[in-house]
Amino acid sequence: MAGTELYDRIGTGYSLGRRTDPRWMAPVLAALGTARSVADVGAGTGSYEPRDRTVLALEPSSEMIRQRPPHASPAVRAIAEALPLQDNSVDVAMAVLTVHHWTDWRTGLAELRRVAPRQVVLAYDTRVHADFWFVREYVPEIAELELSRPSAPDIAQELDADSVIPMPLPWDFTDGVFPAHWRRPEAYLDPRVRRACSALAQTDPDAVERGIRRLREDLDSGWWHETHQDLLALDEWDAGFRLIVSRS
Ligand SMILES: C[S@@+](CC[C@H](N)C(=O)[O-])C[C@H]1O[C@@H](n2cnc3c(N)ncnc32)[C@H](O)[C@@H]1O
Repeated sequence: MAGTELYDRIGTGYSLGRRTDPRWMAPVLAALGTARSVADVGAGTGSYEPRDRTVLALEPSSEMIRQRPPHASPAVRAIAEALPLQDNSVDVAMAVLTVHHWTDWRTGLAELRRVAPRQVVLAYDTRVHADFWFVREYVPEIAELELSRPSAPDIAQELDADSVIPMPLPWDFTDGVFPAHWRRPEAYLDPRVRRACSALAQTDPDAVERGIRRLREDLDSGWWHETHQDLLALDEWDAGFRLIVSRS
């Protein structure tokens, strides 16, 4: 299923699950530097859009556009692979947690380079997600999907990145990206939390149901906490998220 229809279907309630965390906002703002104009491609509800610059949001899903908060910048329906913008018409093209949904991610990245002299992309290493405990131990079916998606190192290489900045997940991260609850396993028992994760929405519901049943048993018996003491001792964990900054 193309990313657009996916988000028209699963995007309902998205703005409740994805809440901008200041600990990611700060490095995104630093990467935007002195840019005055920004195109946010695959903008969704605009989680990490700056408030103090001119922003044009480009987003294919009308369900996602509908959920943009009232103060958010205007949004135009468009896909990354064919941006309705002139060459070099904005200072920065940004793309946050969206490249893995694009039908043709290389063409999309070429479009980012065409419309702006600078690109800021937040993506993740799909191998780390495929090895996340929730995937490895409970829903291994997700690994195949993750490994089929473009990974942060591929994106950095394609953009010939100037810098690749690790974006670790604090244990109490507010933004409900898939591995956000790495130290709060009970969260995955909540269907609202699961609904915010496209990897779960794109996996066989029976496989997810089976995994959740086993997770509940392991939490009730204390097995999860016994076997994950190493994680419980950490305040942040590197789930493979990377901020990729490039000048074309
Ligand atoms: C996980 S959401 C991220 C949204 C937003 N950037 C954020 O971080 O909250 C992925 C977004 O990519 C959009 N998307 C899917 N296919 C796309 C494409 N070909 N071009 C641009 N955006 C696309 C989806 O509609 C969805 O809004």
